[in-house]
Amino acid sequence: SQQKATNVFEQTHHVSRAKRGQIMGQRGGFRGCTVWFTGLSGAGKTTISFGVEDYLCAQGIPTYALDGDNVRHGLNKNLGFSAEDREENIRRVAEVAKLFADSGVVALTSFISPFAKDREQARIIHKELSLPFYECFVDTPIEICEKRDVKGLYKKARAGKIKAFTGIDSSYEPPSKPELVIKAGDLTIYECVQKVIHLLKNKGIIP
Ligand code: PPS
Ligand code: MG
Repeated sequence: SQQKATNVFEQTHHVSRAKRGQIMGQRGGFRGCTVWFTGLSGAGKTTISFGVEDYLCAQGIPTYALDGDNVRHGLNKNLGFSAEDREENIRRVAEVAKLFADSGVVALTSFISPFAKDREQARIIHKELSLPFYECFVDTPIEICEKRDVKGLYKKARAGKIKAFTGIDSSYEPPSKPELVIKAGDLTIYECVQKVIHLLKNKGIIP
């Protein structure tokens, strides 16, 4: 178990959310939130997330996409794919997304995040700060993900060259109450991105 710091005290900022919203980009107003994409490898999480990022930036809305493949090269380069390491991966990403959201940015996260309890924990840490958290299930059947096999990982996993691969020999727990389900196997990328944009409009995050 980890060594925990003691004698650490939470410090209060002087800057309000209203103020952060005022100075954040060309479109005034606090829009900080986290859009949490979850789904199998190859489901379309990265593609949709980067599409949403592109759309929001074009609208002058500050946003940043945190992606599994990228974050695992930096902040989380010391983590693998055991259940414990995935939990820690998601915990750190949730904390980082929370900070982005609190700063007024629309944080977009694209991680498999296979375990319901880890996603629930991500939701809780946002709720504690009254920051909106939208879980988006990129619901692409494994048959389609495996057929596409963009990175050739399913092939490797089937051949036993990757251990604990999600959907093959490591579990994926689908969300029970996601804010959005995207059947990415049946839709175009544009349609998938639009579904997220509609959600953000309905929730009053973007005009
Ligand atoms: S997790 O489960 O949320 O901690 O995973 P994540 O950080 O999203 O990383 C998933 C990407 O890592 C590659 N990869 C694997 N995925 C699943 N299982 C195993 N064993 C594995 N090994 C490597 C893969 O490129 C994943 O990216 P996506 O975009 O999901 O395909
Ligand atoms: Mg990806």
